[in-house]
Amino acid sequence: MAEFEPVLSRNWNVPDSHTLKVYESRGGYQSARKALTTLDPDKVVQIVKDSELRGRGGAGFPCGMKWSFLPKDRKETFMCINADESEPSTFNNRILMERDPHQLIEGIMLGCFATKASTAYLYVRFEYINAYRILERAIAEAKAAGLLGKNILGSGFDLEIYVHRGAGAYICGEETGLIESLEGKRGWPRIKPPFPAIEGAFRKPTVVNNVETLCCVPHILERGADWFKSIGTPKSYGPKLYCISGHVNKQVCVELPLGITARELIDVHGGGVWKGRKAKAVVPGGISMGILSGNELDTKLDFEDIRKPGCLGLGTAAVTVMDDQTSMVDYLYNTARFFAHESCGQCTPCREGCAWIYKTMKRIKGGGGRIVDLDVMLQLANNMGIMPGTTICGLADGAAWPIKNAMAKFRPEFEEYIKTHQSGPKQITELQEAIFQGKTPAISGPSLPVLNAK
Ligand SMILES: Cc1cc2nc3c(=O)[nH]c(=O)nc-3n(C[C@H](O)[C@H](O)[C@H](O)COP(=O)(O)O)c2cc1C
Ligand code: SF4
Repeated sequence: MAEFEPVLSRNWNVPDSHTLKVYESRGGYQSARKALTTLDPDKVVQIVKDSELRGRGGAGFPCGMKWSFLPKDRKETFMCINADESEPSTFNNRILMERDPHQLIEGIMLGCFATKASTAYLYVRFEYINAYRILERAIAEAKAAGLLGKNILGSGFDLEIYVHRGAGAYICGEETGLIESLEGKRGWPRIKPPFPAIEGAFRKPTVVNNVETLCCVPHILERGADWFKSIGTPKSYGPKLYCISGHVNKQVCVELPLGITARELIDVHGGGVWKGRKAKAVVPGGISMGILSGNELDTKLDFEDIRKPGCLGLGTAAVTVMDDQTSMVDYLYNTARFFAHESCGQCTPCREGCAWIYKTMKRIKGGGGRIVDLDVMLQLANNMGIMPGTTICGLADGAAWPIKNAMAKFRPEFEEYIKTHQSGPKQITELQEAIFQGKTPAISGPSLPVLNAK
């Protein structure tokens, strides 16, 4: 196999890589020039379809297919670029925007040309102030050079890109939560269908794509779909930006072919586990994807193999390493706290499930846990999420998966912790315990008031 040549990150270490001059001097905007002047939009959609590029934002949906779902008779189309990047330990979009904003602008141009969108909203995570400033400057530069605005390169194609800053909510990364937020409303995900392709921003057909997904497009146009499909594994194609953080010697974002194993990523690119220790567990793609145990490190981090050890998916391919001295109780407590805070509260299984799991983990951590709590948390996790079909969006799956994986892979550690940490108060009553066990105990004492009793 030919040696892998990074493309998405090729400009990152070039001085002034964020400027138009440097981007163009390195072959930038050639794909957009070619597409706008020699191809028609449907041809661009077909090339991206042929490449089988799958979305890099988390769900891995085929990009070209998403573009072709737009209604043929549409009058107006919007594109939303998802740069909310709130998944813990994920930072590849930030680097793409800060180091090579014109690569993203070119990807947006191609995406908008293909989908006939003349307005693009770049929804940037609130905390990314640096990226926001760099993008604003790059867009102004591109506009001054005639690469944005009216009748770009004499093609008749118009495009304006507006940068919109988020307000710090994880749920606004979910595509319909993002659209609601963009419209100035509370970032509550919408019930689907209708999907954004039919009714999205301002109730018009809309495409939502992640930053990295769009950054792949200029390279696919330049080198062809076959080139893209020659990289990766037999079913997961193309280059991928992997973020590595946690207990490793080098915390980096590195571009590699899809399908690298967790072990190679940690040992070769992350410089190994810190302090000469071993990896006890690895978060494979942001915390919502679950966990790999230390003996599952030969799993390939691609769209297929990652499911074999029971993880939810590849997610953002942001890998967090936990060394052999990490407490899985701490891990699950922090995860539960995050999701309880970020659930938007619309769906009962998610709102209540996340809150109860967090409360239970807090009590276990504080020394008031009981073995039955583990079963209760698992039962809650099994009943929440898009996968069992009880919620509007995927946040609940993301909250449930760490519980499912932790119970399947590390339950003895939780049991041991509960048995040896008995200092805290036991807040669960006998009544609650009986209910957890499916029994309805006889209630003694004064009867409860009956509302509206005649
Ligand atoms: C709770 C939640 C948070 C999400 N956060 C992000 C995010 O920060 N960035 C992102 O690109 N996609 C995120 N997604 C996925 C988006 O809904 C959507 O699938 C994606 O932006 C589509 O782009 P792609 O097809 O190019 O990957 C999130 C999904 C969920 C359920
Ligand atoms: S699943 Fe959770 S985050 Fe998603 S819409 Fe329902 S309550 Fe909100």
